[in-house]
Amino acid sequence: MSTIQVRQENPEDIRAIDVVHLSAFEGDDEVGLIDSLRASSGFIADLSLVAEFNGRIVGHVLLTRVRLLKGKEKEGLDILALAPMAVVPSQSHRGIGSELVKAAIDKARTLGHKAIVVVGHPEFYQRFGFKSASKLGLETNLAVSDDLVTVMELINGTLSGGGNIIYPSLFNCVY
Ligand SMILES: CC(C)(COP(=O)(O)OP(=O)(O)OC[C@H]1O[C@@H](n2cnc3c(N)ncnc32)[C@H](O)[C@@H]1OP(=O)(O)O)[C@@H](O)C(=O)NCCC(=O)NCCS
Repeated sequence: MSTIQVRQENPEDIRAIDVVHLSAFEGDDEVGLIDSLRASSGFIADLSLVAEFNGRIVGHVLLTRVRLLKGKEKEGLDILALAPMAVVPSQSHRGIGSELVKAAIDKARTLGHKAIVVVGHPEFYQRFGFKSASKLGLETNLAVSDDLVTVMELINGTLSGGGNIIYPSLFNCVY
């Protein structure tokens, strides 16, 4: 029986990853964003994960560094933004997206990262324990509705007291 395998991306996967995002999103903004993020200081190779099904790449998720500023802090601390994520439409609703999110959370926790923020489908991300960012007093610098932003704390206390989550301007092409 075929199973879904989630593993770290390698350079040979890049074209297949682009195809996943081109099939799942309208246009190529996400592909451009991923290229830019790979070249940025926020990229963490361990946290670009692909899902393989029957030997084919059918899903991808990327977590990169964003900044959390608390109170009047100027420096802040690094947390992770989950984006983009996609599963090819022909394989959606089979749990592949869920496997990617669970693997990403596990890997991020193992690597000692403090928290994850994500924009989109709150009812989907809440399944994994993500909580409304606005209810925790967290805002972002993105032009998106507050309702779409959820967060998960990986190290206790990271998000307590709220704050501002600063995404790099690279993300402006998708949000
Ligand atoms: C969102 C996405 C990654 C989910 O992948 P998946 O493999 O279908 O995920 P799973 O099978 O584990 O879970 C499916 C659940 O995702 C949620 N979901 C999927 N698409 C959704 C949408 N457009 N709006 C709201 N919820 C959605 C639903 O809760 C769905 O549950 P259901 O199967 O009971 O209907 C995939 O649908 C996709 O690539 N969509 C287009 C790109 C996108 O929106 N990316 C995420 C940005 S936050």
